[in-house]
This record gives sequence, C-alpha cells and structure tokens, in this order.
Amino acid sequence: MIKISPSILSADFANLQRDIERISAADYVHVDVMDGLFVPNITIGIPVVKSIRPTTELPLDVHLMIDRPVRYVGEFCDAGADIVTCHVESDTEENIHEALRIIHEKGKKAGVVVKPKTPASAVLPFINEVEMILVMTVEPGFGGQKFMADMMPKVQQIRRYIDAMNPGCELEVDGGVDPNTAPLCIHSGANVLVAGSAVYKAADIPARIQELRG
Ligand code: DX5
Ligand code: ZN
Repeated sequence: MIKISPSILSADFANLQRDIERISAADYVHVDVMDGLFVPNITIGIPVVKSIRPTTELPLDVHLMIDRPVRYVGEFCDAGADIVTCHVESDTEENIHEALRIIHEKGKKAGVVVKPKTPASAVLPFINEVEMILVMTVEPGFGGQKFMADMMPKVQQIRRYIDAMNPGCELEVDGGVDPNTAPLCIHSGANVLVAGSAVYKAADIPARIQELRG
C-alpha cells in the first residue's frame, strides 16, 4: 500500500486548519521545518506543530531541515510530531545517533534524510535505528521544484538495503512528486510519497491523493 504525505508547505498558512482538513484522505501530514541555515529558507517551527496537532488525527511527518537537529528533536516530539526525520548532512554521525535516540525515548518514530548529492551508503550507519528513510528528489529548501529522476537508482539501492537489513522501515521520497513522477518512485521501491504542489494545486484533492497512490 502506497502512502501519501502531503506537504503543508504548499498550503495557505493563514488557513492551515482548513488546508489540513482538505488532506484527510492522506496517510500523513508532511511538515517542512527550515531554519535559514541548513537550507536557504525559513518556514515553520515548534509552536506551529503544537497548534496543528489537535486539528488532525493523521500522524505528523516532521522533516527537519535544520542545523544540528539534536538540539530540538525532543521539543518537536513534545509538540506532537509522530515521525521526525533528520538530515544525515546536518550534524556529526554521533549527534545524529543521539537525535534518533531522543526521538525513540519520546516514543516517536525516527528517520534519516539524504540530499540529492549524498550517496545511498550514507544511511548505512543508521539503518538499524530508523523507521523511515527519506530520499530527496529536489534540493531541499523550496516547494514546486522539478523532480530529479536521476535519484531513482539511489531509491532502488536504499530499497535493497532496507529489504536486507530492516524490512519494516518505510522509504519516502520528497520533491517534485506528481501523477507523472509518482510511478517512477513506486517502481523504484518507495512506499511513502510526499507531494506539496501536486496535492494543493489540484481541483479535487481527494481524487489527486488517490491518483498518486497509483
Ligand atoms: C522541499 C520540501 C518538500 C516540498 C515538496 O525542501 O522538503 O517537502 O514541500 O514540495 P513539492 O511537492 O511541491 O515539490
Ligand atoms: Zn519535506
């Protein structure tokens, strides 16, 4: 079963509750947290996660694009995040292990994320400690960018790692996913698709979510 995690980065921030209700047919709510340092954009943080928590029963899939996330993962969990993913590029290996440990201590699911230029092998030190691996199919920082089809061999490689080492782990892709590119991701082994503009620009959002499942 393919899961869809619409990114609220493409929602109307003045109407977040309404726009989260509009994606109730999805599986997760993808929350893009950016700090203006790890990526060249600033979005939303802990108070917004806390405010949207009571507006939906869907799990909050919080993608941290922040420098040294170990400083904040506990607070994101306390604010209501259900899945917290940290970029492998955002700190030392030791501190990423510590961030994953804190997330688990809070009773939440933990994941690691790789940017386009980061090789598949970068997930290996963490593969037995995560419930999710996220492969970026755009450079993180902005919604509405073009899908990088050349990331598909990396998705396939990480699918092989997961099947061999941690078969329960979810494999998510993020960036430029739409009805044309979703089948490439699914055929490459992804089971969770993030989609921002493709969901929020659709005239019929529940139908678009269904279409993305393939
Ligand atoms: C990019 C974010 C994505 C983005 C996806 O840095 O991590 O989640 O919102 O948006 P689309 O689907 O429009 O590429
Ligand atoms: Zn994201």
